Amino acid sequence: MMALSWLFISGCVIAVPVCAMTAVSIYLISVRKKYSHIPGPPRDSFFLGHIPTFQKYLKEGKFFSEMAIEFIRKYGHVVKIELAERIIVITADPQSIRELMITGNHTKSKAAYEKLGFLFGERFIGKGLVVETDQKVWVWRRALMNPCFQKSYIKGLESAFNTEIDLLINKLAGLADGKTQVSMLEEFNHLTLDVIGKIGFGMQMNNVENRTEPSEYTKAIKLALGGVSAFVRDPFIKFKYSKWKYLADVKKAMRTLRVLSKQSFDERKKQIERGDYTPDDILNFLVKMKLENPELDGEVILDDITTFFLAGQETSANLLSFALICLWQNKDVLERLKAEVSDVVGDKHYISVEDTNKMEYLDMVIKETLRLYPPAPNTFRENKTDIEIQGYKIPAGTGIMISTFVSSRLEEFFPEPLKFDPERFNPAENRIPSYTYFPFTLGPRTCIGKDFGVIEAKMILSKIVQRFNFEMDPNQSFDIEESATLKPKGGAFCSFTLCDS
Ligand code: HEM
Repeated sequence: MMALSWLFISGCVIAVPVCAMTAVSIYLISVRKKYSHIPGPPRDSFFLGHIPTFQKYLKEGKFFSEMAIEFIRKYGHVVKIELAERIIVITADPQSIRELMITGNHTKSKAAYEKLGFLFGERFIGKGLVVETDQKVWVWRRALMNPCFQKSYIKGLESAFNTEIDLLINKLAGLADGKTQVSMLEEFNHLTLDVIGKIGFGMQMNNVENRTEPSEYTKAIKLALGGVSAFVRDPFIKFKYSKWKYLADVKKAMRTLRVLSKQSFDERKKQIERGDYTPDDILNFLVKMKLENPELDGEVILDDITTFFLAGQETSANLLSFALICLWQNKDVLERLKAEVSDVVGDKHYISVEDTNKMEYLDMVIKETLRLYPPAPNTFRENKTDIEIQGYKIPAGTGIMISTFVSSRLEEFFPEPLKFDPERFNPAENRIPSYTYFPFTLGPRTCIGKDFGVIEAKMILSKIVQRFNFEMDPNQSFDIEESATLKPKGGAFCSFTLCDS
């Protein structure tokens, strides 16, 4: 009897894993069969697919979009990669990009965005505008938010922009001894946080003036976005005991961000209910949206507040840091930009939206920076029906990645792609092939804050080149770090001197 039980237990110990492996194998084979006709690199592991391939790239200091561009160069404008059971198709085919983002009415990919909304089981940006995949719900909410981001509305923020930016300019003036090294990534992070806090949410955050080190909020943003990146790098991270402490910190950071969102919501709600004066800003829109639609889930409003804080801050700070690096590396461009700023605004300290509109070269510099260094490089769509990309059938429901980083660095679209050449964007020349450059994406899901972000960046950059000469620390890394967004790894350390000194 005893021997029989042992035999049964040993049989189970062997049979259960074998059955499980067989079931997983059959599942993987059946999922992958539908994509076997699409080109792609050989997989490194049957079960994990290209996860180990990606790990190898990471070890070489490369990131996901760099791996994607290598595959596209090698296998053509449509490739597939397998991340365990998940298939991602990546395309750089302009006409397919047009269909996926503009004409085809395809939704954002559930697999990609729902994970971002609820990271490691913790509500992060939940169902905020960026990650909302239900088209009907998104259309309604986007329509409600659009007025807050119209150019005419942003024009009214001009004076507030100037006030906030001048705080950084004054701070830099105090440090402009030609020696003190300042991490401009950090300073821009503080400034863009103050700007979105003040202009979008009526909060005086004082990060630029008061901080000598990152505020709790900027640290929380860094950690939370790092968590997104950690998840992309290693989908199995939550099963690794050694990472549990880190993941606990990431979750705490996400909660910190949401607590701040809740506090600002509650405070503004009270002010509105009391009939106090409240600014006509993003927060007012969101609070009124909830008051007028009580059926709306309050957590979704917190999702949006958190989303706007994040989306409105990191991206602009990263763009500005990359722009400084590009200008320092290309002194001829910097000199031409300085000349333009001097022509348009002279030494006037108040820079208007109209002034920035007159600076055509500044516009070209920003566009070229975004071509090489798009802070938010990738977007994901899910095709509603079967589609064809370059003759390859893509089954309905596939997660398709479209990357401005990839498309805008391909030689066939941008000759000498690594050369920083703002002239590519000279409006008189029309040299940009359609659907190859989209740092704010294209079509209905395009960035709602594009004008806000670009005007802000133009004002900041023009004020800096107007007032300062700067040198970068040549020993820092000028590589790109991917941590949900793309940012300069070395922190963009600069020393400044005043132009008239
Ligand atoms: C240089 C600055 C910026 C860049 C490069 C940028 C880039 C992008 C990109 C690429 C997307 C699409 C994301 C995706 O498809 O997954 C996006 C969406 C979005 N951005 Fe921006 N962004 C910038 C500034 C801003 C600012 C200042 C705000 C708000 C104040 C903002 C708010 C949003 C929101 C809410 C969405 C989601 C729009 C929707 O799906 O309806 N962004 N942004």
